[in-house]
Amino acid sequence: MGRLSMAVPVMLLLLCATCRLALGITDGLLPNGNFERGPAPSQLRGTRVMGSSAIPAWQTSGFVEYIPSGRKQGDMVLVVPEGAYAVRLGNEASIRQRLHGAARGARYSLTFSAARTCAQAEQLNVSASGQSGLLAMQTMYSSNGWDSYAWAWVADADEVDVVIHNPGVTEDPACGPLIDSVAIKTLNPPRRTNKNLVKNGDFEEGPYIIPGTKWGVLIPSRVVDDHSPLPGWMVESLKAIKYIDSDSFAVPRGRRAVELLAGRESAIAQVIRTVPGRQYALSFTVGDASNACRGSLMVEAYAGRESTKVAYESAGKGGVKRAVLPFRAASARTRLVFFSSFYSTRSDDLSSLCGPVLDDVAVVSVRTTKRG
Ligand SMILES: *[C@@H]1O[C@H](CO)[C@@H](O)[C@H](O)[C@H]1NC(C)=O
Repeated sequence: MGRLSMAVPVMLLLLCATCRLALGITDGLLPNGNFERGPAPSQLRGTRVMGSSAIPAWQTSGFVEYIPSGRKQGDMVLVVPEGAYAVRLGNEASIRQRLHGAARGARYSLTFSAARTCAQAEQLNVSASGQSGLLAMQTMYSSNGWDSYAWAWVADADEVDVVIHNPGVTEDPACGPLIDSVAIKTLNPPRRTNKNLVKNGDFEEGPYIIPGTKWGVLIPSRVVDDHSPLPGWMVESLKAIKYIDSDSFAVPRGRRAVELLAGRESAIAQVIRTVPGRQYALSFTVGDASNACRGSLMVEAYAGRESTKVAYESAGKGGVKRAVLPFRAASARTRLVFFSSFYSTRSDDLSSLCGPVLDDVAVVSVRTTKRG
């Protein structure tokens, strides 16, 4: 009896030691990442947050407001995507949270939802571990005004401050984006396999998608040196692509895919290793996300200098088409690029951009029969 009762606390201790080690950074919402826990009434003046530690788990600076869903601004009713509260970052305002247990050298992706509230262009500067990204808030993507954005960085220490800052200065200090649902995901490095020279060709590895959001996650275009939230891939040119999941969209294979929604202004690319002179086959799946994106869609694919255009007639209800581009490698590196040939909008909401879905990208070496 005595022995048994000793064994239980020892077991608990051991369990806890392992759970602490394994704890690190957990994928999902940050502590109070949905801002459902708010300031005490004494720390609010109207909606304005007074004091830098008033919102549990966060540090704030500048003109930060705590916004309940349904609040009116002019003739606009502010809707909050998750729960009943969000924050608004006014002029030069920022929110900050310290994360513990990051792994030095590991890549993390931050996902958050944001909505513009005033007419002018708004930007958010997201930073961590000395790296930063300026994300343009574009309202052209989802009909309710909210979009989710992803940004990735490499941790330089086990304690990391993540900061979301509105660098804007406008006449009305209450202008500025609403923020909700701040989440994190550890990104696993993608690997090439013997079968497929493309890394993360099925797009299964990528930023956190906040459950219940019906608008996917925008992956903004980046300059080459930055860390992509979509391992293996770079988003090029001006505009974002959308990362979608099978909970809310039709996905050709697996649980995740990308939607190419900004025409030629957004391309997704990867450089693969090839043997000069060797023959390869690039194959990929084109489809639609079952999001009322109807009509003639077209994806252009490049493998080095060779290219193909794949037409896809979309009924907007989900569907797939497999395409193959045979190519001969011209050098030791071959650049794969995909984009949509033109803009499309949803037939149920002409203000929302949409486009073809890309999934399941593979490159295999093709054995050619030698001629004598
Ligand atoms: C964004 O924030 C980081 C960190 O505070 C800063 O170093 C960088 O200059 C800022 N970028 C812009 C464009 O404001």
